[in-house]
Amino acid sequence: MTIRLAATAALLLGGAGPAPAEDLDRPPIRYTDTAPDTAVSRLEQQLKAKKLELAHSDEHGYLPAVLKALDVPLSSQVLVFSKTSLQRGRISPKTPRAIYFNDEVTVGFCRNGDVLEVTASDPHLGTVFYTVEQRADRTPRFTRQTESCLICHGSSSNQGYPGHLIRSVSPDAHGELVLSRGSKRVDHTTPFDDRWGGWYVTGTSGKHTHLGNQIVGGWSWAEDDEQPDPSNVTDLRPYFTVANYPSPHSDLVALMVLEHQGEGYNRITRAGMRVRQALHEQAALNKATGEPADKRRESITRRIEWACEPVVQYLLFSEEAKLSGPVRGTSDFAKEFAARGPFDSRKRSLREFDLATRMFRYPMSYLVYSRQFDGLPAEAKDRIYLRLHEVLTGRDQSKPFAHLSKDDRAAVLEILRETKPGVPDYWKK
Ligand code: HEC
Repeated sequence: MTIRLAATAALLLGGAGPAPAEDLDRPPIRYTDTAPDTAVSRLEQQLKAKKLELAHSDEHGYLPAVLKALDVPLSSQVLVFSKTSLQRGRISPKTPRAIYFNDEVTVGFCRNGDVLEVTASDPHLGTVFYTVEQRADRTPRFTRQTESCLICHGSSSNQGYPGHLIRSVSPDAHGELVLSRGSKRVDHTTPFDDRWGGWYVTGTSGKHTHLGNQIVGGWSWAEDDEQPDPSNVTDLRPYFTVANYPSPHSDLVALMVLEHQGEGYNRITRAGMRVRQALHEQAALNKATGEPADKRRESITRRIEWACEPVVQYLLFSEEAKLSGPVRGTSDFAKEFAARGPFDSRKRSLREFDLATRMFRYPMSYLVYSRQFDGLPAEAKDRIYLRLHEVLTGRDQSKPFAHLSKDDRAAVLEILRETKPGVPDYWKK
């Protein structure tokens, strides 16, 4: 489909159809041939300038050096044992895949894997994919990947846009999926009961049950009547050789944050790309009809609004799965994450956890501080700030925001005013 045709089709459809994925390599996105601007590209420059070297370790290859260089905390380790990703042959309940993350990068590691799998967040390209060959005899290099990762990460489950994937499945004793039992995408709206099939989970969740730490048919090392309580596992040693991994944890709170963050970035990515595509089409239409290049068309305004609303709702934790009692992880993840702030003058922070009734004390995502949020086109940010302001000042009392109390709204508004550079001036009055 040419751009012109796409624009016409979008207009005919009322301007609300998702852009087809193949358009991502055309202007204005040019996903594949645009040089990324990510934490990884900044690290690559340091490596090139020989300001830094990545050491190889016999046990884990370049993993420890990469985590350190990218400032990814070990406490973020989570473990997945379903054969659902690229290096499926390396993954099983005895040899889970480890995932580490911070706000900007996610690193996947398989024991004896050929590569480390890395995603990094880019202000314009959304999620960017890399591999690092795990070979001691070669200088370690981040190789950008597109199709080989987008087959799954840019598939219809991400509406054709490059993004993160977190799923909950039913695995058997080999980590193979029991397909008849289905699978689910996971984010902060997923009920606890449906989460973590195929994952190890260390933590306590009281009466909440979840699907982690389980295989269909039960663990062969435990008698049927002595299967461990899967929802309150704090030690993974019965399941596999924990010492083979840099950390013994698959922290429950880290999992919750990774799931929140993955879908949050996916929505920011889609909004950014959709708005840029809409503006690009507007310019093309204006050119074709001889109008000024920036003449705003009603249909384009509606597309921008439609593209941004999912971000507004997600940032404000619409439809978040509620907790009915305290949940805790086992690593230092929560402590380290919360300590990072930023804090307002009353020491409040969007990273402060609740973990008894909901995830965070203040229902507004820290992703608002991300480079990817800041990299949204001005038209998208204007719209998102306007909607946030309507909700936080109480003018919008509609259903998606009914979970926000008056105090929640006031607190979030105050915290953002003090801690988020770039909030519009009308927010400050
Ligand atoms: C066969 C499908 C598939 C392919 C191909 C694939 N992935 Fe994934 N990836 C997944 C799934 C499914 C998950 C969710 C966790 C899991 O089940 O292991 C995931 C999770 C991840 C994660 C952690 C969560 C996230 O989304 O950030 C990273 C990092 C990652 N993949 C990187 C990559 C990179 C880099 C490539 C390409 C070199 C790649 N993947 C190719 C299926 C795939």
